[in-house]
This record gives sequence, C-alpha cells and structure tokens, in this order.
Amino acid sequence: MKIARVKLSDRAAAGIYPDASGPEIERIVEQSFDEPIEWVRVLLPDDRAGLEQTLRRLVDEEQCLLVLTAGGTGPTARDFTPEATRAVLDKELPGFGEIMRLNSYAKVKTAILSRATAGVRGCSLIINLPGRPTAVAECLPLLLPAIAEALDHIAGFRPKLRS
Ligand code: MTE
Repeated sequence: MKIARVKLSDRAAAGIYPDASGPEIERIVEQSFDEPIEWVRVLLPDDRAGLEQTLRRLVDEEQCLLVLTAGGTGPTARDFTPEATRAVLDKELPGFGEIMRLNSYAKVKTAILSRATAGVRGCSLIINLPGRPTAVAECLPLLLPAIAEALDHIAGFRPKLRS
C-alpha cells in the first residue's frame, strides 16, 4: 500500500524547525493498518502551484493510493492546501473535514479555523489534516474506517484495520 505524507509549512521547509506531523501521520497509519506500507515523504513550503503539481505527481505518476497532507488549512494568506486539493480532485468528500472539525471542537475551540477537505482523484484518496502534530493525533484516528471503506469503493482494495 503506497501512501504519501505531505507536510506544508514555510518554516519547516526552510529548516527552521523539524516536521513533527509527518512522522506522527506515519506512526498512526503504521499502528492502525495491518498492511505493508511504502511511504513517499514530502516537505513543501506553503505554495499553491507547488502543492497542486505535487498532488498530481503523487497520484498520477507515483500511484499513491492515499495522500495525507498536513498543514496549510487555516485562514492566513499563506494557507492554500484546500484550494490546491480541490483543484486536483475529481470528487470532493466533505465529510472528512466536517468530522475533524466537529470532533476536534469538543477539545479545541479553534478547530473550526481549519478548512481541511478531502476527495478522490482517479483511484486515490487525498485528505487534508490540520498541521499541528497534536491535531494530526486527534483527527487521523477518526478517519481510518472511512479511509478503508473509501479505498474499497474507489480502488477495489480495502486495507485491513488492526482491531
Ligand atoms: N484541530 C485540532 N484537533 N487540534 C488543533 O490544535 N488547531 C486549529 C485547527 N484545527 C487544531 C485543529 C488551528 S489553531 C488552526 S489555525 C487550523 O487547524 C489550521 O491549521 P493548519 O493551517 O496548520 O492546517
């Protein structure tokens, strides 16, 4: 199962601090799916055109079944992740973002500032996560059953979830 994790952050991409959310994505996915996983790891500045190009490459050329982005979902002038994601999707799946905001709101009132979305491109699933490692840890586990179901529908492959 080939999975890409893409961190969007000007400062992490400039080496000002290390990317902690990419490793957090990997830890949760490895713990949750009972499948061998091949990772594609990407660290990008907040750049809309660069992200669009990267998402197209990860799906169309590298054939990643699942692409998980972290960061760039907020309200600032440099947050472009949902726009870049929508631009490459064949079909949007707004439920992923809705459930992240709804569940996170119970813990962090600022959760509603994330505009994260998700959807299908070809036979692949692309999902935005908010950028903080704690946000990844709060959001990603909620999505796993729907990720398995969606991959079954769009790619005919249902990854096994550990019980
Ligand atoms: N969701 C959870 N679960 N935990 C968080 O700490 N931070 C919020 C929100 N969602 C947060 C969260 C904040 S403060 C912002 S600005 C947005 O996610 C967008 O974050 P991003 O731009 O790093 O994607």
